[in-house]
Amino acid sequence: KERTFIMVKPDGVQRGLVGEIMKRFENRGYKLVACKMCTPTKAHLEEHYRDLKSKGFFAGLIEYMSSGPVVAMVWEGKEAVKMGRMMLGATNPLQSNPGTIRGDFCIDVGRNICHGSDSVESGKRESEHWFKDGEIQEWSPAQSKWVYE
Ligand code: GTP
Ligand code: MG
Repeated sequence: KERTFIMVKPDGVQRGLVGEIMKRFENRGYKLVACKMCTPTKAHLEEHYRDLKSKGFFAGLIEYMSSGPVVAMVWEGKEAVKMGRMMLGATNPLQSNPGTIRGDFCIDVGRNICHGSDSVESGKRESEHWFKDGEIQEWSPAQSKWVYE
């Protein structure tokens, strides 16, 4: 039961795309196990994006990501990390295929509306960074046996 951390960024929230993004994961058959809206602090985001600290866009990224509410989620299911990245599309929306979330809804890399974990390990690290124990639910969707062989 692989988990990925998916977040609708402040621009995605402002543009009313929360439902659209969640719908795609639900429709695909992934299971929502955690969800909340919050305005992240800079310190929280600096830890989340710690691998990008040396990048020139880091300060702008933290400014943008802390500018308003985000919707943080954990989705669970077979190959959730790899499929989540595929559903989001390339980091730079100008390179995201149509049919992906970024490829359908945005243009600029600095306003790419959503985040998805890039490895199983970061899926676990990010889920634990954004959610406490007990905020992640264990449940069995009735449709599971129709989604998985
Ligand atoms: P996330 O799912 O958001 O982590 O994106 P990613 O894994 O596809 O890309 P990465 O982790 O390398 O970068 C994190 C975020 O930083 C991106 O989603 C962008 O919002 C932003 N970013 C990455 N590269 C650039 C850049 O060259 N310029 C600007 N302005 N922002 C960038
Ligand atoms: Mg990333």
